[in-house]
Amino acid sequence: MAVQEEKPGWLGKSVRRIEDDRFIVGRGNYVDDVVLPGMLHMAVLRSPVAHAKINSIDTSRAEALEGVVAVVTGELLAQHNLAWMPTLSGDTQAVLATDKVRMQGQEVACVIAEDAYIAHDALELIEVDYEQLPVITTPQAALEPGAPVIRDDKEGQTDNRIYHWEAGDEQATEQAFAQADRVVSLATHYPRCHPAPLECCGCVADVNPATGKATIWMTSQAPHVHRTVFALVAGLPEQNIQIISPDIGGGFGNKVPVYPGYVVATAASLLIGRPVKWIEDRTGNLISTGFARDFHMEGELALTDEGKMLGLRVRMLSDQGYAYADAQPSKFKAGLFHIVGGSYDLAATHVVTDGAYTNKAPGGVAYRCSFRVTEASFFIERLVQTAAYELGIDPAELRRRNFIRADQFPYTSATGFIYDSGNYEPALDLALEKVGYDELRAEQKRLREEEGRLIGIGLASFTEVVGAGPSKNFDILGIKMFDSAELRVHPTGKAILKLGVKTQGQGHETTFAQIVAHELGIPPQDILVQHGDTDNTPYGLGTYASRSTPTAGAATAVVARKLRDKAREIAAHLLEASPEDLEWDWNRFYVKGSPDQSKTIQEIAFAAYTDLPEGMEHGLEGVNYYDPPNMTYPFGSYAVVVEIDRGTGKWEVRRVVAVDDCGVRINPMIVEGQIMGGLTEGYAMAAMELITFDEDGNCLGSNFVDYLLPSSWETPNFELHETVTPSPHHPIGAKGVGESATVGSPAAFVNAVVDALAHVGVRNFEMPVTPDKVWEKLVEVGLAE
Ligand code: CDP
Repeated sequence: MAVQEEKPGWLGKSVRRIEDDRFIVGRGNYVDDVVLPGMLHMAVLRSPVAHAKINSIDTSRAEALEGVVAVVTGELLAQHNLAWMPTLSGDTQAVLATDKVRMQGQEVACVIAEDAYIAHDALELIEVDYEQLPVITTPQAALEPGAPVIRDDKEGQTDNRIYHWEAGDEQATEQAFAQADRVVSLATHYPRCHPAPLECCGCVADVNPATGKATIWMTSQAPHVHRTVFALVAGLPEQNIQIISPDIGGGFGNKVPVYPGYVVATAASLLIGRPVKWIEDRTGNLISTGFARDFHMEGELALTDEGKMLGLRVRMLSDQGYAYADAQPSKFKAGLFHIVGGSYDLAATHVVTDGAYTNKAPGGVAYRCSFRVTEASFFIERLVQTAAYELGIDPAELRRRNFIRADQFPYTSATGFIYDSGNYEPALDLALEKVGYDELRAEQKRLREEEGRLIGIGLASFTEVVGAGPSKNFDILGIKMFDSAELRVHPTGKAILKLGVKTQGQGHETTFAQIVAHELGIPPQDILVQHGDTDNTPYGLGTYASRSTPTAGAATAVVARKLRDKAREIAAHLLEASPEDLEWDWNRFYVKGSPDQSKTIQEIAFAAYTDLPEGMEHGLEGVNYYDPPNMTYPFGSYAVVVEIDRGTGKWEVRRVVAVDDCGVRINPMIVEGQIMGGLTEGYAMAAMELITFDEDGNCLGSNFVDYLLPSSWETPNFELHETVTPSPHHPIGAKGVGESATVGSPAAFVNAVVDALAHVGVRNFEMPVTPDKVWEKLVEVGLAE
């Protein structure tokens, strides 16, 4: 499909967000705002220990409390075959524990009561006899011979290994290493973190005893998929399930999985015959719902003395928690590391990945990242920076020498992805120019030599892969990945657009209206965008991993073009001309050579219901299910400047220059907001965010005092710039952007701190790079005492 020529219109305009009107005046409608007659409230009892056999659960005292309607246990669910449920990766996860608990915070029982306070009070009256078992908190320990088998519930599972995948060509990679002048290595960990959306998870389940219809308001990033999963798992007829995902206070991948709370509330409503509300608290969210990252990575880069990269070897070990629940729709072998070579032209690559069960929460959600690209990108950008110091080549120059060249696209990576487009050098050049790289390097040297000050300049040049499908390569539990848009233009020329994807704050109600406006000339404020209600929108796979614009955004453009084709026929009828003699101009058709003879889209819309050519069907509406031919590959180059305080080890960010290329920008203001959010998250990972556990498996990041999110106070200023390399296959040339900065920036921040000390041989800091780690290093290298 050809990219349309640029024309005056609604693409590239920073239209103010239509949805903000209701949010600013407090009229958003979140799950917790849903109140139904006769509604009950549910609270969840969570395990205080990380690994234990459950000898017994006594619910009698809780049941006796006035106002308690029922206490649900795993045993009760097992009677309905609902004690376990599938994860997104086809593993199983307990809904409520039956035999054992396998992580701290695991759901053990639920109280259903007349109000939320009674439900929570009753939790304390449930007595559980736990018999504690040895706890495993690292994947290395999990894979030790003789380690206790965490998933002994699974037939045939004799150890804690979940998968072993390899990608690339091992032999060719070995040969590349044999020819190398230099081999540079790095071992590091991308720690576990949490998406931590402002709104935790929750649902209101209302199963009508008379009709059997289940209406479930749910914090869901993928309502259609959740409806299908409910139908398959619970055996409910799919037409009787309506999932409504109302306004969502941030998702970031956290709201893609199905959580036990949703299932128990629905089962309870079915059994009791009244609506049941469950609203998760912050600690419950932080300790039990989908985490992200937690990859231990090591690898080597083979290079010539001149800095030409010859080959890459990487070994990754991931800590999956007690269930393999990755939001990982790739059917490629080791698909998650197909982009491990980043933006570099690497002829030979070999990647080995292993995953292990531990006594922690499952997750692996698409936290602003698809297919674990964030981890892969972090690793290659750290490794390249290390190689630059080892070879004595400037880090910018080493990148430049190895970039995939613009004329090599579409480019097949050594492990199998076909990058659709890219032009990496201009993005790096722009970042260097804007940050004043050459002068900065001179200043860095001067300040170090004359004043002993430690300035660091960190770079990262990343490539991201977003927009799953194509359906031939991607599915979730067998549901193929595509997405959809349905568009109806009313007689007065106003329109309603219904999407298969679901916004959680990204501004779809504005940007998708802009796409229609661009294609049909109907202004965005005349277009109502609906999403999130499965009874009311076409089937879609949901919003995560920056897939909305490449899939449903494309569907929106395609369906709008379908309507424009019909509009041409109607305009020809109205103008008594032949359709071929008409020219489209922004919002109207006119007769070639007679621009005064024209009909606007609004006039044509009215005629679609009132004055049609003989035999034409009434109305102006259509639907498109879009199966993209490929993913899109946004990219960018970031430059970060920091200064380390030699007295404390604290590092401060001086400058952040970010050049992003997401092809054609629909709404530059929204894109910039997405990038600032991603940069903040990247900075947070580099500086402070960390979910950690003690040796007994107690989660030490269970609240916002211990789990450090940056506020606006700590967050640095960001200087944003762009290059534009349109996606050749997307109808409007757009690539997704939602997560690019999260993927690209952590390495730039860490590289900057390392760079400040590279001259004394420092090559690595583990994230988060806290002042004490830097201080220790300063002492070690003799720069502090
Ligand atoms: O799937 P998700 O919406 O999280 O990610 P996305 O498709 O990258 O889009 C994030 C937001 O940025 C949406 O509102 C997009 O429409 C907007 N966007 C844009 O205006 N121009 C682009 N080239 C890409 C995204």
